[in-house]
Order: sequence, then C-alpha cells, then structure tokens
Amino acid sequence: MRVAQRILVIGATGLLGEPVAYGLRDAEFIVRVVSRNISGARATFPEPFEVIEGDAAKRADVDNALTDCDAVHISIDHDQEDECITHVVEAAQSQGLKRITYVSGTTVCEENRWFPLVDRKLKSEQAILASGIDYTILCPGWFMEMLSRFVRHGPAIVFGKPSRRWHFVSIQDFARMVTESYRCPEAVNKRLYVHGPQALTVLEALRSYCRVLHPEIKRVLRVPYSLLRGIAWLSGNAELQSGVNMVSYLEQVGERSDATEANAILGAPEITLDEWLSIQKVPRE
Ligand SMILES: NC(=O)c1ccc[n+]([C@@H]2O[C@H](COP(=O)([O-])OP(=O)(O)OC[C@H]3O[C@@H](n4cnc5c(N)ncnc54)[C@H](OP(=O)(O)O)[C@@H]3O)[C@@H](O)[C@H]2O)c1
Repeated sequence: MRVAQRILVIGATGLLGEPVAYGLRDAEFIVRVVSRNISGARATFPEPFEVIEGDAAKRADVDNALTDCDAVHISIDHDQEDECITHVVEAAQSQGLKRITYVSGTTVCEENRWFPLVDRKLKSEQAILASGIDYTILCPGWFMEMLSRFVRHGPAIVFGKPSRRWHFVSIQDFARMVTESYRCPEAVNKRLYVHGPQALTVLEALRSYCRVLHPEIKRVLRVPYSLLRGIAWLSGNAELQSGVNMVSYLEQVGERSDATEANAILGAPEITLDEWLSIQKVPRE
C-alpha cells in the first residue's frame, strides 16, 4: 500500500525539485507545489498539479501548504534552511503527516560541520529524525546538470585544480530514486547516499561536456580560487562567490560515502555522463 496520496514538494521550482515533482506526478501521486513565486510556479506546473503561494520561512504559510497532504518532499536552497525545515517538521507533526523526504548532501557529516551549509543540513536532519515521522534522507553529490554553469560566459572554466573524483549523477536518476522511496518500505527511516555510475573529476566531466555540447570550446581554463574570489568581490557577484566557496569546500573534503544501500533499495543510477550528454544533444520538441 502507498504511504502517501498527496505529496507537497517544497522547492519544486528548483533544479532538483522540478524533475522530482514531475516524477511523483508520473507515478500518480497528487502533487502540490509551494513557491514564493506563484505565477512562475503556475507556468511550470499546470493542472493536475496543485500550486500554492507560500514561504517556508513562515510557519503559517507552511501550515496552509501542508493541509490535506500525507507527505512532504523538501528540496530547498535557503540561508536559513534549518529554520524552514523546523517549521515544516512542526507543521507536519501537528497535521499528522506520514512521511518526509529531504535532500541533504553527500559530504554532510559532523566532521564537515565547519562549513555553514553542512551545519544547516545537520540541524535540518536532526529536526526530521526527532520528529517521529517516517523519513528518507537522500544525500547526492555532483549532478551532471551543474556542468552547464561552468560554460555560461564563453570559455569553460574550472575553479582551482580539481583532483577529487565524484560519482556524477543525473537528475533523472535522482528523481526516480525519490519516487521509488515512496513506494518502497525498505527506504523508511534511512539516510541514503546517491552516487552515479562513474567517478570523474570536475575537469574530466567538463572536458566531456565541452567535447559533446560545445565543440567550439577547445580547452577548459583552470582559474585559481583567489582570482575568482577577487573577481566576485570586485563585481559584487554573490553567486560566483558562493559557487567558489562551494567548489573549494567540495574539493577540500571529497566524496567518502558509500551508495551500496541506496542502490540496493532504490535501484542504482544507470545514466552515464556519455549517455546523459547524448540525450542533451537531441533537440527538444
Ligand atoms: N544542485 C546541486 O548540485 C545539489 C547537490 C546536492 C544537494 N543539493 C541540495 O538540494 C536542494 C535543492 O537544490 P537546487 O539546486 O534544486 O536549488 P535551487 O535550484 O536553487 O532551488 C531552490 C528551491 O528552493 C525553494 N525555496 C528557497 N527558499 C524557499 C522558501 N523560503 N520557501 C519556499 N521555497 C523556497 C525555491 O522556490 P521558490 O523560489 O519558487 O520559492 C526553489 O524551488 C538544496 O538543499 C541543495 O543543498 C543540491
């Protein structure tokens, strides 16, 4: 028997949330999305999606969004993510939700708590664990879809000197695993690492990306963190600043987790980078 009929997706307008919302809809769940930008969300999610305006930082909005839901999938990027998750957990408890799924990260562990995002995610995970509600926490690392962000301004640029290998995963595989976690009793109360089929450095992955999707780019430039931070500071580019901080953090700590349990329970991601690239080449209808 399915644990949920109506699932609220918080963060459905985001990179990871949108394919998850569509995957859940395709699996015949009733999917409600909540967004701070109602018109944008309505355009992305036509009927049968239910679309509600709301801010996860406001408890009343969360209560409203969760009304009549059985479960909530949380995939938000917010400076006070842990406070938002506390609101969601409290509202979920008071409304008797049966299930929470939450997107954490593959490097999230006590040892890496010095990095602010990890601290927020550990606090969020703690709130979910303490709620008494059945949960599945998914911990992905690098997504193939992030590669386009390194070729946005003409040349392809990698930050620093990437030498760590990461199991790049496609969002399609990730969305399938989230949907599967709602069908599969073994996924209950598990924290599962999500790793793609091959381990690559960011440089290797970006070279493949350029070879297939941007053959006009002949080489990938390696730019030191210090130079990128200087550019971000001088230009007031907060997105670049936070991107450099994230990439340098990931390179510092590396991928140490093991996806064996997730693969056994939810089915291993199968899409390789080459397969993913060949799908991106096919013109969209
Ligand atoms: N991207 C990656 O490579 C990656 C890897 C591992 C883990 N993760 C984790 O996955 C999660 C999602 O990442 P993403 O890349 O999909 O983020 P994203 O594209 O930046 O999307 C962020 C989403 O969060 C929602 N959001 C933010 N603040 C909100 C608030 N106060 N109330 C309601 N919704 C709010 C936004 O919705 P509206 O703007 O529509 O309100 C948006 O849909 C994050 O927790 C991230 O740490 C991401």
